[in-house]
Amino acid sequence: MIGGVQTPPIQGIKTRNRSNNQGLSRQHEEVQGSRKAKANLPFNRIVTGDARDVLPQIPDSSVDLSFWSPPYYVGKSYERNLTFEEWQDMVCAVIAGHARIIKPGGFLAINIGDILCFPDKSIPRFRADNMRHKKNPVTRKQILETMTVYPDYNRKEIGAVLGCSEQTVQRRLEHNNVRGGKRQTQTKLLLTGCMVVEWGEAAGLYLYDQRIWHKDPCWMNSRWHSNSYRSVDEFEHIYVLHRPGIVTYDRARIDDHEWSSWGSRGIWQIRSVARNNRHEAEFPEELASRVIRLFSPEGGVVIDPFVGSGTTTAVAKKLNRQWYGIDSDPKYTAMARLRTDAA
Ligand SMILES: C[S@@+](CC[C@H](N)C(=O)[O-])C[C@H]1O[C@@H](n2cnc3c(N)ncnc32)[C@H](O)[C@@H]1O
Repeated sequence: MIGGVQTPPIQGIKTRNRSNNQGLSRQHEEVQGSRKAKANLPFNRIVTGDARDVLPQIPDSSVDLSFWSPPYYVGKSYERNLTFEEWQDMVCAVIAGHARIIKPGGFLAINIGDILCFPDKSIPRFRADNMRHKKNPVTRKQILETMTVYPDYNRKEIGAVLGCSEQTVQRRLEHNNVRGGKRQTQTKLLLTGCMVVEWGEAAGLYLYDQRIWHKDPCWMNSRWHSNSYRSVDEFEHIYVLHRPGIVTYDRARIDDHEWSSWGSRGIWQIRSVARNNRHEAEFPEELASRVIRLFSPEGGVVIDPFVGSGTTTAVAKKLNRQWYGIDSDPKYTAMARLRTDAA
């Protein structure tokens, strides 16, 4: 979030090198062969594999909507082996893999946290003077004023005038209460939306709209909520890209009340999935339901190349869409199959 910054593993920002995909552990239980292989896969399936390998097997211009939430690069178990460069390469390649398979006039909706932070020694430090950590209320300004009135006094005598110790005078004068000055690394913040839009355009997919998912505040994720002006992590973006073509605009997809309460609204207030043991980054069914109902027709094809626990596919099935899911972890594809079959 702007301010609700999540912390990725400690690595510096690197120049993106799309050829470097090493370090990503890939599962290929069902999908064999090169990324270039093409076959007419039937929909209504969930397959295990790297999205970059599986997407090329989906027929040209066959998908009405792809809705997904990729690894965010915030240190989850399924992204821990990736460098920032590899993460960028992966998400960029998956976006590029959609340019051919989305129908002209169809949509790619990406749900992602808006901000990442990295240690970066090349930028100036952010330094904070935390008043709560000062046991004595005496300020530097008061000390400087007192020194003007009593230019011959030493620090102990100045302290006696102000009712504080010699050490407090020294700390205020030398800014020793300023946090982040000595040990903390400079932090560079990066907006994910800029990257997503750039990668989409490079592939021929253009930003059409964005929504904000206002979720529950993640107090636990926010290193700074008690010691900074930054806000807690409590919203995520949905970037909606489209493949140029004629977009079917069907006002009847949702009713008038739904148009005014969320269909035409930029901010969607939806509770996060309560902590469960199913998946560590599951998004709520209501989020998938809104995106699918707005951006795909009944009977259309909805895919999710990072299907996780199967939220998108289960909801797509309930909403009478065809569905297709991919995940690199066989544990999640098994889970997604069970959940989608039961939907
Ligand atoms: C943020 S989670 C998706 C959660 C899903 N939206 C849900 O509601 O359960 C991202 C998923 O991407 C999978 N994943 C990571 N890298 C992948 C890759 N290269 N190809 C396919 N899936 C991948 C992870 O195993 C994880 O389940």
